[in-house]
Amino acid sequence: MAFPPSFLDELVARNPIEDVVGQYVSLKRSGSNLFGLCPFHGEKTASFSVAPDKGIYYCFGCHKGGGSINFMMEIEGLSYPDAVRALAKRAGMTVPEDEQYQSRYRQQERLWALSKEAARFYVAQLYAPAGAEGLAYARRRGMPKSTLTRFGIGFAPNEWTAMTDAMRAKGYTDEELKESGLVSVSQKNGRIYDRFRNRLMFPIIDVRGNVIGFGGRVMDNSTPKYLNSPETIIFNKRKNLFALNLAKKTKLPYLILVEGYMDAVALHQYGFDCAVASLGTSLTEEHAVLLSRYTENVVLIYDGDEAGQRATRRAIPMLEKAGLQVKVLQMRDAKDPDEYLKKFGADKFKNLLEESSNRVEYQLNAIRKKYDLREDEQRVKFIGEAAEFISSLGNAVQREVYGHRVADAAKISYDAMKIEVNKAYKRRIAREKKRQEKIDLAPAQALQPKARSIRYDNIKSAMAEETIIAMALKEPALLDEAQDLKEEEFSSGLLGSVYVQLRSRHDQGLDVSLGVLSDLTGEEMSHITGIYQRQQGPVSEQAFRDCVRTIHAEHQASKVDSADDLMALRNRYKERKGIKG
Ligand code: CTP
Ligand code: MN
Repeated sequence: MAFPPSFLDELVARNPIEDVVGQYVSLKRSGSNLFGLCPFHGEKTASFSVAPDKGIYYCFGCHKGGGSINFMMEIEGLSYPDAVRALAKRAGMTVPEDEQYQSRYRQQERLWALSKEAARFYVAQLYAPAGAEGLAYARRRGMPKSTLTRFGIGFAPNEWTAMTDAMRAKGYTDEELKESGLVSVSQKNGRIYDRFRNRLMFPIIDVRGNVIGFGGRVMDNSTPKYLNSPETIIFNKRKNLFALNLAKKTKLPYLILVEGYMDAVALHQYGFDCAVASLGTSLTEEHAVLLSRYTENVVLIYDGDEAGQRATRRAIPMLEKAGLQVKVLQMRDAKDPDEYLKKFGADKFKNLLEESSNRVEYQLNAIRKKYDLREDEQRVKFIGEAAEFISSLGNAVQREVYGHRVADAAKISYDAMKIEVNKAYKRRIAREKKRQEKIDLAPAQALQPKARSIRYDNIKSAMAEETIIAMALKEPALLDEAQDLKEEEFSSGLLGSVYVQLRSRHDQGLDVSLGVLSDLTGEEMSHITGIYQRQQGPVSEQAFRDCVRTIHAEHQASKVDSADDLMALRNRYKERKGIKG
């Protein structure tokens, strides 16, 4: 990592964690810490904490944590150097020259500028003679000028190099055009040509207002119907949603999530300025978290076809995991919201919205549709599956309300239904217990980090390594007790590299704290912060030395072990399977 440590120290000192976080989260003091609603997962009670004296934040709900730099990375979706850059700007500091990062950042800025220029070019074309057909198509689809302007919709003319030539004239290189995804490369002669031709162009704009890509629609029935920009260094489909740049400013207390560009555009046009669309990909966890930053309520409107239903079933748990309240609107009498609005207007759509069911109703309906309730056998199956589902609801009122509903639908008494739900509940508890027993039998498994990208090969050593790092962060002088501890003795690569960073800072007389760690992913940083937060035991030389001894010993043992790799493998297999002996 190329930023000099002294610069990073000053950067962290001049960006106090409470100020940096305070820009995004409203914080209330309680003792020496501050608390607020976690910006990374939706929640109603404040489990997000900031410790100014330690320079860190930590969420007890979703276990994200770290220092100022890491916070900026998470909340703005920035890379490490860009987060450093943003904080430097905030504190009025100049970032020391670092060719590699400077050049990557410059490259991004060039691509943002190029994409914006291209968007301007496409808009100009829409109103030029070359765009007559595009403009007519936009009109046919019921988009007035105000809508076209609000979304920056344009037109890619039916030519091979119109856009390319215009951008070259503005000083962009072929290399930059290739990196932007706006051109394709000819297999025959290696020359570049416009990727988008004869298409209505929808610019995709991120929440910071940068044009990052395009979706282009054909005007007839040819395929592909929509052509999208490929992923580039500025365009990540998993992390961006179409129209969120506009929808984030809505006054409505919810966001609407739809499948299509045109659906989002039409919704905005008809006054539902809270609509966003995923970008021709299925919803990701990153999308869900992104949404949860702007709202607590999401209305899902996917097409009524089987694919849409599947997408809905998949999206619900993801959105709920991000802390969002989910409602589902079932499209009827029209294929999608765009078609519906144009057929029936905004008022009718508003009725649909108000009727849209919560996810419990939606799921019960889905179960019900699977069975023909006129047949006794099917009714029994329906009651069983519905009882199973109702027994999973955490809220007693909900269990009663929906229990009644199912009983009515299946034409049985509520008492009989209640018995079914209770049985299902007991089965569930028994299953849970079995699962828990399995975990208890395999304690090593339970101690594994929650983050799936981090695995511990030697739990015993890793626990000692965790403790060493937590103690060193609390009491850096303890590092003097570990003069002979080497990185390769750590069983976990992550913990070893954190140790080395702390060690070298301590040896240079620099501040040893979490906030200055570099080269870690967000997940890794959260993991380290969690270790630090959980460390409750005594911080003492004795305890520290014990841990060092454990690491030495485990490392020695592993060397012996590896002499017999097969044996080690077998043991590890047993440990994983929870087999003893
Ligand atoms: N999509 C895509 N590539 C395709 C087809 C679809 O990326 N070849 C994405 C687009 O984001 C599109 C969404 O999937 O908006 C939904 O596709 P579809 O339902 O087929 O289109 P509509 O949104 O209804 O588009 P239109 O109303 O313009 O026909
Ligand atoms: Mn459509």
